[in-house]
Amino acid sequence: MEITNVSEYEAIAKQKLPKMAFDYYASGAEDQWTLQENRNAFSRILFRPRILIDVSKIDMATTVLGFKISMPIMIAPTAFQKMAHPEGEYATARAASAAGTIMTLSSWATSSVEEVASTGPGIRFFQLYVYKDRNVVAQLVRRAERAGFKAIALTVDTPRLGRREADIKNRFTLPPFLTLKNFEGLDLGKMDEANDSGLASYVAGQIDRTLSWKDVKWLQTITKLPILVKGVLTAEDARLSIQAGAAGIIVSNHGARQLDYVPATIMALEEVVKAAQGRVPVFLDGGVRRGTDVFKALALGASGIFIGRPVVYSLAAEGEAGVRKVLQMLRDEFELTMALSGCRSLSEITRNHIVADWDLPK
Ligand code: FNR
Repeated sequence: MEITNVSEYEAIAKQKLPKMAFDYYASGAEDQWTLQENRNAFSRILFRPRILIDVSKIDMATTVLGFKISMPIMIAPTAFQKMAHPEGEYATARAASAAGTIMTLSSWATSSVEEVASTGPGIRFFQLYVYKDRNVVAQLVRRAERAGFKAIALTVDTPRLGRREADIKNRFTLPPFLTLKNFEGLDLGKMDEANDSGLASYVAGQIDRTLSWKDVKWLQTITKLPILVKGVLTAEDARLSIQAGAAGIIVSNHGARQLDYVPATIMALEEVVKAAQGRVPVFLDGGVRRGTDVFKALALGASGIFIGRPVVYSLAAEGEAGVRKVLQMLRDEFELTMALSGCRSLSEITRNHIVADWDLPK
């Protein structure tokens, strides 16, 4: 049967993938309250569409950190994509570049920065986890630069791994035929079997829990690439990110996989946008599954959004073609949303095109 929306790929992925892999992709932390909330919160925002505007031409193009892309819909970093499909990150990279948008490659990719670069042209960002061994970090950043990656998305919400209970029950570990390719040969490329979650043990062993604002500045001494701080949920941290030299902010709760009972990202977005005062662009990820979600995020001040799970689910179902289809469906839905609400370009999308339940008197 024909797939008509992004969410349908989840059930197909569930059928196709081994339980350990699907659970790793799908899980949120603990009670998974935030996981549900990331979706539910979008339904608390309704449209105030404008009528009788000539919408025969719709322009969705935009510029992110100076790079022109076809639409404000980008790909978030998700780890271990070869667990979903043998072509893994290659397929994602090709699909993103065919759609004229940005792919963010995870530090924990099962393909290296060089391998992904070799798939052909495309605008790509590199997601960075900061390891205890700073030489490893410096080397990796240099390799990403050389491979033509255009920005670093510094993930700041993972000093320790969130408690994902399915992974603990499954004793999640990377299948033996896969490695963390960016760390191959560094002794950090393997994830050992553990008696709970292999990934949680790996993070505990390797990731630097001391990471703090001074390290955002340190990162700027080892690279000229712009830095996006990924994992901001408050006005306070938006201001500190800008002070620390961030080129942009990603409002993210890591797909609800880290701290449970943080708000949905769409609920936190406006506070962060206000604090940023237009000094740096603010992006959002978390629960975006519809073109209407994209519009709502832009109406609340986001410069663009990223999608995570839809990419791994569609990869599992149909490889590169699946990821292309996800991007195309979101693009089409977003275009339709713009037309039906009377917006011809992204700059015409305003706060007045939506009403959120927190706008209404209680
Ligand atoms: C992630 N995410 C993530 N983030 C990051 O900075 N580095 C990473 O390696 C990963 N890996 C990862 C794996 C999987 C399976 C998921 C689902 C998520 C978080 C990701 O970048 C993004 O913040 C969320 O996925 C966005 O939410 P949705 O679109 O999945 O709801």
